[in-house]
Amino acid sequence: MFETIFEPFRIHSIEPLRMTTPEHRRAAIEEADFNLFRLHADDVLIDFLTDSGTGAMSRDQWAAIQHGDESYAGSPSWFVFREAVRELFPFAHVIPTHQGRAAERILFSVLGGPGNVVPNNTHFDTTRANVEHTGGEAVDLVIPQGHDPSSEYPFKGNMDVAALEALIEERGPVNVPVVFVTITNNSGGGQPVSLENLHAVRKVCDRFGIRFFLDACRFAENAWFIREREPGQEGREVADIVREMASLADGMTISAKKDPLANIGGWLAMDDDALFEQCRNLLILTEGFPTYGGLAGRDLEAIAQGLREAVDHDYLRYRIRSTAYLGEGIERVGIPIVRPFGGHAVYLDARAFLPHVPPLEYPGQSLAVALYEVGGIRGCEIGTVMFGHHPDGSEEPAAMDLVRLAVPRRTYTQSHVDYAIEVCAEVARRAPELRGYTIVEQAQELRHFTARFASLA
Ligand SMILES: Cc1ncc(COP(=O)(O)O)c(C=O)c1O
Repeated sequence: MFETIFEPFRIHSIEPLRMTTPEHRRAAIEEADFNLFRLHADDVLIDFLTDSGTGAMSRDQWAAIQHGDESYAGSPSWFVFREAVRELFPFAHVIPTHQGRAAERILFSVLGGPGNVVPNNTHFDTTRANVEHTGGEAVDLVIPQGHDPSSEYPFKGNMDVAALEALIEERGPVNVPVVFVTITNNSGGGQPVSLENLHAVRKVCDRFGIRFFLDACRFAENAWFIREREPGQEGREVADIVREMASLADGMTISAKKDPLANIGGWLAMDDDALFEQCRNLLILTEGFPTYGGLAGRDLEAIAQGLREAVDHDYLRYRIRSTAYLGEGIERVGIPIVRPFGGHAVYLDARAFLPHVPPLEYPGQSLAVALYEVGGIRGCEIGTVMFGHHPDGSEEPAAMDLVRLAVPRRTYTQSHVDYAIEVCAEVARRAPELRGYTIVEQAQELRHFTARFASLA
């Protein structure tokens, strides 16, 4: 009867925002060498840098924290956590870690190494870095529609199954220790992967005798898209779809800072006993005892409660709709964006928006800095700065130059989003004036976090 999908919660406690002026922000970003990661967060008005760990916890999560038991070994909170994980992802072994990349580091320390190649639909930056850090090779094999920002294909995160088979045949299955699929495909625009595609990847892995793992950070959003878009899946319980996704894989890595609605945490899970033993030993070496990993008991409790809330249909309907609302507004003011809208973020196509800024002058960085200077909006470049720098020191344009506006879960209201759309409209008016950047200092790996830029204006 009513069209408005409103937040399925009331606000219980608030965090004040500090108002800033364009002059203040201009000085702040210059001081930060034009790297948005270097800003003081008090100087940001609307923080769309990431949806990772920035969500608002619920009353029930805060209450669960009070149940946190900090016993070094065998904490009751560990059993609560493990049961909640297994309810959705029934793998034999669960290894808690302080966040997603710790799970990746442990797994690839065992499975990676020189000569090995790891296919993925699109590696997230930390996943790629953790494969490459061991001397392995990370290969992205998303379907061609995944590289076309204007394609309306409903599952643009799908793995190109034919390309996967060709890669395995070319390199030999013994050199492919694991096939990964990232749900949803964060670096490829937050696009979902269909159940049909996961079944097809499973079949290829079975044929070659290769493990299949999920990078499941946004499993609930992916499952919601499956429910909405995949023929035959409408009306299904999201938790049920998640269990089917898990049943197709041999294991998973995840950051609990995304769909599990926690501020910290992650885990690694698998069925293989021998692999588990090797991973557990590494966990003890660098993260902690296996019943807490890198986490406090209270974090384990918050994650367990968050997992129950993450698959709630009212929450997911609001979540996906509010991201689309931001996307529709930005599209209306004339900034090209990746279609269809992703689950956790809207991706602005900076290369199309700023055709006068060549990829090696980082159009994504230019747009991201403009959004900050004009309106205090912090987004994240996902393009040549993030992916254009190779381990041998060479540089080439990334497949796309995007700016990601990631929407923290349950954190901002519709008027915050309306303000962000107004800022985008002003930046769109100023597009011809925007200029590129050059990097004056960078790290060997994951340079985008710490690089210093100079303006070419
Ligand atoms: C798809 C994906 N994989 C892995 C990670 C790494 O997780 P964390 O930031 O908890 O280390 C992220 C984080 O953004 C991600 O989006």
